[in-house]
Amino acid sequence: MSYAETYAAWAADPEGWWMRAARAIDWVRPPSRALWAGRAPFYEWFADAEVNGCWNAVDRHVRAGRGSQTAVIHDSPVTGTIRRISYAELQERVARLAGALAARGVGVGDRVVIYMPMVPEALEAMLACARLGAIHSVVFGGFAAPELAARIDDATPKAIIAASCGIEPGRIVHYKPLLDAALAQARHRPAFCVIFQREQEVARLTPGRDLDWHAFQFGAAPAPCVPVAGNHPAYILYTSGTTGQPKGVVRPTAGHLVALNWTMGAVYGMKPGEVFWAASDVGWVVGHSYICYGPLIHGNTTVMYEGKPVGTPDAAAFWRVIEAHRVACLFTAPTAFRAIKREDPGGALVRHHDLSSLRALFLAGERADPDTIRWAEAQLGVPVIDHWWQTETGWAIAANPLGLGLLPVRVGSPGVPMPGYDVQVLDEGGHPLPPGQLGAVAVRLPLPPGTLPTLWNAEARFRKGYLDHFPGFYETGDAGYRDEDGYLYIMARTDDVINVAGHRLSTGAMEEVLASHPDVAECAVIGVADPLKGQVPLGFLCLNKGCARDHAEIAAEAVRLVRDRIGPVADFKRAAVVERLPKTRSGKILRSTMAKIADGEPWKMPATIDDPAILDEIGAALRQLGYPRG
Ligand code: COA
Ligand code: AMP
Repeated sequence: MSYAETYAAWAADPEGWWMRAARAIDWVRPPSRALWAGRAPFYEWFADAEVNGCWNAVDRHVRAGRGSQTAVIHDSPVTGTIRRISYAELQERVARLAGALAARGVGVGDRVVIYMPMVPEALEAMLACARLGAIHSVVFGGFAAPELAARIDDATPKAIIAASCGIEPGRIVHYKPLLDAALAQARHRPAFCVIFQREQEVARLTPGRDLDWHAFQFGAAPAPCVPVAGNHPAYILYTSGTTGQPKGVVRPTAGHLVALNWTMGAVYGMKPGEVFWAASDVGWVVGHSYICYGPLIHGNTTVMYEGKPVGTPDAAAFWRVIEAHRVACLFTAPTAFRAIKREDPGGALVRHHDLSSLRALFLAGERADPDTIRWAEAQLGVPVIDHWWQTETGWAIAANPLGLGLLPVRVGSPGVPMPGYDVQVLDEGGHPLPPGQLGAVAVRLPLPPGTLPTLWNAEARFRKGYLDHFPGFYETGDAGYRDEDGYLYIMARTDDVINVAGHRLSTGAMEEVLASHPDVAECAVIGVADPLKGQVPLGFLCLNKGCARDHAEIAAEAVRLVRDRIGPVADFKRAAVVERLPKTRSGKILRSTMAKIADGEPWKMPATIDDPAILDEIGAALRQLGYPRG
């Protein structure tokens, strides 16, 4: 079936369409119906089914005779190792880990925080939770201890599974000391922690709290898969909102199994047995959906790459991995390709490798700029497909579905709405806008299976943040437009979220940290355009009256503060001290005007500005920092 036929079939009978997609999943008790709308605008899918996520990702493939197929390839240039784990081995390892967790009381509904780098044990920990019906919450390694502590306090885990260390080029990331610091700050105490000791740095264990990964599993009986209700949360994944308090996106079990399995074939064009590589991190939604669950549910081999696109050791790293493992489909963020292109603009390194296995490159996580798309197309000779989604949705809202027959690629557009998503571009009053006009991109409720039904412990925040503004719609937080043929164009965020190297960050969270500096009276953080990372944050600090300290020293302290409180991933490296911030007469800081000045874009003097002269001061401060670029 073509895309148009598929979308029309879904639109004609959404519930029947999803019930048919659900047939690809192994159910303990099949759903009697697809949609549960009794609590609208809170919707659930497959709520009366019983199912197990780990069974569908692992055990069923062993039973079907795929036990000897490689399930996971861990390719780690930072440790110089490549490791392959078959589906049968994965089953054995996950069942034993789950058995050890169960023996210590972890069961259905208990939360388990996972704080691990890109090692297969991270996937095993996720799958062991799914096996028991425990709800995992993976925390990205680039966050600092206070961010981990905030997630521990919100998720209140019974157990934490962590690694002793991660490896970034040129430095060891001390996961265990970061965990210790987070636990010292957190109010919540887990019953126990399991520590996977890596040889690059062996951590000191805290007696009575910490257990060694191997010793703890010794003699444990393998645990069977525990059936859970279809709407049971598979995981919580925290993402940045407009404030410092991260939002816990809840992922329901059955919906994500059905939707991810469908996308593997229809969106990515994968057949079971082939090799899929999402070059992301398990700490992000891409890692959840397309390093862990999607490829495994679909019976693919997943590549887990512990390295960077450049520098580990060079800009040929991606090509080596594709060739070595016969990767059929690569998924990454545009920033990774910008990094490669910067080091090897002519693509000389590409030609040293046999990339004949590769059928397509998928990009997401940030806007894919036309230059990068064209460069990738020219080097790889395969379709380069931008697609658009969010942590909240867990899978593509819009894409160009390779498995349904590729539509003509329109550079600059992440494609067309996927079945399940009735995407509308709305004006401020919530009225649909005609093609070509920029507005808020919203999705008519209900969202499809696999998307968030709510936020963990924060139903009111879910309603306020996503549902209240446009009744009957889910507000994506993105602005964009559609063309005459229904292709979407996603242009910017409508909130204070910025996107740094494909990582979603809150400028509000950074402002909260800066405001805590004893010399800072007021501050603003904006995202400015960056040729490598898409955007980077930049801070403005107004000091307390009478503060006579050196401005450069205070700016350096501010940079350190954000690194220590939020983490290196924020990439907050630029700050300037200014006398005043530009505001409207009602006191709202004019962040978007400041960002336009920094980017050298045309801007209009806001009619409501309190004192236009302040913008000159901001322009001068920006010039000192080297903005606008070029
Ligand atoms: N654990 C600890 N620290 C981490 C980390 C992790 N898992 N991942 C990144 N960091 C640190 C980096 O070491 C860096 O620290 P530094 O300030 O000391 O140099 C900082 O966080 C910023 O990292 P990053 O944004 O990755 O920048 P980079 O300069 O190291 O690399 C790219 C730039 C483009 C190569 C890199 O961003 C990249 O590979 N991006 C791919 C995109 C991606 O994976 N997106 C995920 C969503 S699909
Ligand atoms: P995250 O939740 O971290 O995946 O970030 C989601 C946000 O990243 C979206 O709301 C968009 O702002 C942005 N984004 C993701 N994919 C794309 C894309 N293909 N084009 C433009 N923006 C994107």
